[in-house]
Amino acid sequence: MTASPSLPPAPVRSPRERGGEIIAIASGKGGVGKTWLAITLAHVWARAGLRTLLFDGDLGLANVDIQLGLTPEHDLSAVVAGRISLASATTCYAAGGFDILAGRSGSGSLSALSPEALEALLSDLRIAARRYEAIVLDLGAGLDRSVRRMATFAHRLVVVVTDDPTSLTDAYAVLKLYAADHPGGDARVVVNQAASRAAGERTFATLERASRTFLGRTPLLAGIIRRDEHVRDAIRRQSPLLLRHPIAAVAAEVEAIARELLHPVVAGT
Ligand SMILES: Nc1ncnc2c1ncn2[C@@H]1O[C@H](COP(=O)(O)OP(=O)(O)OP(=O)(O)O)[C@@H](O)[C@H]1O
Ligand SMILES: [Mg+2]
Repeated sequence: MTASPSLPPAPVRSPRERGGEIIAIASGKGGVGKTWLAITLAHVWARAGLRTLLFDGDLGLANVDIQLGLTPEHDLSAVVAGRISLASATTCYAAGGFDILAGRSGSGSLSALSPEALEALLSDLRIAARRYEAIVLDLGAGLDRSVRRMATFAHRLVVVVTDDPTSLTDAYAVLKLYAADHPGGDARVVVNQAASRAAGERTFATLERASRTFLGRTPLLAGIIRRDEHVRDAIRRQSPLLLRHPIAAVAAEVEAIARELLHPVVAGT
């Protein structure tokens, strides 16, 4: 498999009818690779020709612009303060071919967003989503109110997990809360930083077993991404993986996940 941008662009529901597919990336535990995966998925979809928006939903701790070395003119805090519209706060990330709505590092006002302000922001985002075919929401760590709300707002939730026991426990907690908040919601699991494919499958099996036993649900595996130095190198250099290391094995792994996420199979529970 290659990292060439050759996805057949086939969003599940017609973007013209109700806006593009909104996919949220969560994990519970921090530092597992949500932001990196969100950026790379957005990049793959953009290269495949989909109009793509990456929304930094880690309110109060900007992630996306830092990983890409950007200093956007506007960010979410100006939108929340009512100074500019959400549409005019988006920045075109020309190197990746997608738009970014940046978060604001260290902005307490964003992390303490009231439920009403969050709803207003999401309603703006729903309107903005009509101009896109794929919208990726990079959520913050933890399971606070805004993370849970944004997870249910999305059409699909991707839960990123590693083999770290804390990550597994937190991923299970995310799945449990999501099942309660959004019965019938569509949650997929990505195992990241796996030592090997077999190790990744074992990690998924552990999470699947707990979910099946205690929640009565079997989450679907969206894919496994191995631990790869190319990821660290790209982040260190504030450059997207697909530009810096386009033929790395992880690039192909994310591309396969991107394809899977926009071609969902029927859940076999
Ligand atoms: N597949 C991978 N291989 C190697 N390292 C990885 C991989 N995925 C992520 N990492 C490492 O994990 C670190 C954290 O990634 P990232 O910032 O995307 O995580 P996060 O879940 O968004 O964190 P936070 O919860 O703090 O927002 C990266 O700096 C990178 O070094
Ligand atoms: Mg992050």
